[in-house]
Amino acid sequence: MRLEHLSASEFRNLERVEIDFSPRFTILHGHNGAGKTNVLEALYLISTVRSFRSAELGPLVRHGQTQTRVEVTGRISGLGVTSTLCVTLERGTRSTRRAASADGKLVRSGAAFYGRLPAILFTPEDLNVLRGSPGGRRRFLDRVLFARDRAHIGDIQTYEKLLRSRNHVLRGADQARGTRDRDAMLEAYELRLSETGARIWTRRDQLVEELRGAVTEGFAQIHGKAPQADITYSSHVQGFLREQGRTEDAERATADVSARAQVLHRALQDRRGLDLMRGTTSLGPHRDDFEMTLNGQSAAKYASQGQSRALVLAFKIAELQTSRAALGRAPVLLLDDVSSELDPTRTGQLFQALAREVEQCVLTTTSPRFIPLPDELERSYLAVAGGVITTSGATLSG
Ligand SMILES: Nc1ncnc2c1ncn2[C@@H]1O[C@H](COP(=O)(O)OP(=O)(O)OP(=O)(O)O)[C@@H](O)[C@H]1O
Ligand SMILES: [Mg+2]
Repeated sequence: MRLEHLSASEFRNLERVEIDFSPRFTILHGHNGAGKTNVLEALYLISTVRSFRSAELGPLVRHGQTQTRVEVTGRISGLGVTSTLCVTLERGTRSTRRAASADGKLVRSGAAFYGRLPAILFTPEDLNVLRGSPGGRRRFLDRVLFARDRAHIGDIQTYEKLLRSRNHVLRGADQARGTRDRDAMLEAYELRLSETGARIWTRRDQLVEELRGAVTEGFAQIHGKAPQADITYSSHVQGFLREQGRTEDAERATADVSARAQVLHRALQDRRGLDLMRGTTSLGPHRDDFEMTLNGQSAAKYASQGQSRALVLAFKIAELQTSRAALGRAPVLLLDDVSSELDPTRTGQLFQALAREVEQCVLTTTSPRFIPLPDELERSYLAVAGGVITTSGATLSG
């Protein structure tokens, strides 16, 4: 979908806004706390029916109000017809009710609404992903997959639930049961964990493999040809098998989903004794990770700030290219405050690469002079101040 218009009322500090988007780049600029990221959050809400800033949706409703409404109008690529997507949130005392509708019709299931406005989000927090925790990196990968494959969300939720159940039994919380009962329960959880886990592992591994070439290329475009960037997925189970000298098992594991499930199942069974002692599941895709490298050296350990930023941006450009191939249309890029920390040459190269790769982009910045877009690129500037948005005549010198 190509974004045309956003109406939002009582959304965070945006009391009532009406925004027209450029078919290419829309630049929201304003001081800290003005409400720029809030606009991206409203668009993200239409894309995913979630927030990227809080797990709960209540905080999205403007202080002192009980309801917020966000509506997006856009043109469906290929079909040339206009569609309107709307999400309302109603804050109650206990929870926040959400309702989504498309062209005036209520859409009850999240799955049926999700993906009507395909969007890729990039926030300043993403920049720390390489130096952050493995959990942060797994979520980073999973978010890419959520946008492509609804089944991944379900698998992650199921896996986490199974993990909690197995850990519960491991910790002996069911001591009333005999050893035989306990083992039967563990066996049942292990089987299901390995089936679900194998799908999660496979999707993530395939994603990284799919992005690899484009990451190298994207980094070269932003940063320069040297050093060479790469990305690899590291499976915790494979690492464990190699450590045990079971290299054949480790290699065989990547044949397909069922090979992965078998390997995972056996490994979980092998570790059961140890896991019982520790009271936790020590092995599986919940311990997996990915690594980005420059000339083969770990970026987390050796890359500069600017290089790390360029690597993560290259990942996002790669995601965009492959999503476009998968969806048949380019997702909208939501770019929150990206360019600080890149030097002027790299910032220029980044925006040239974005202008080439991205169809439509909504981005925020404290000043338009941080956004050196190519002269010929169609764009519009919107000034944000105190939750009020006005069309601005800003230019590069603004
Ligand atoms: N529920 C809410 N009701 C009213 N105001 C809110 C609510 N939630 C957040 N705000 C206000 O919104 C503002 C933050 O907006 P936003 O995060 O979009 O700023 P920003 O322009 O992106 O700033 P920065 O440049 O610092 O990132 C803050 O002033 C905050 O107090
Ligand atoms: Mg912001």
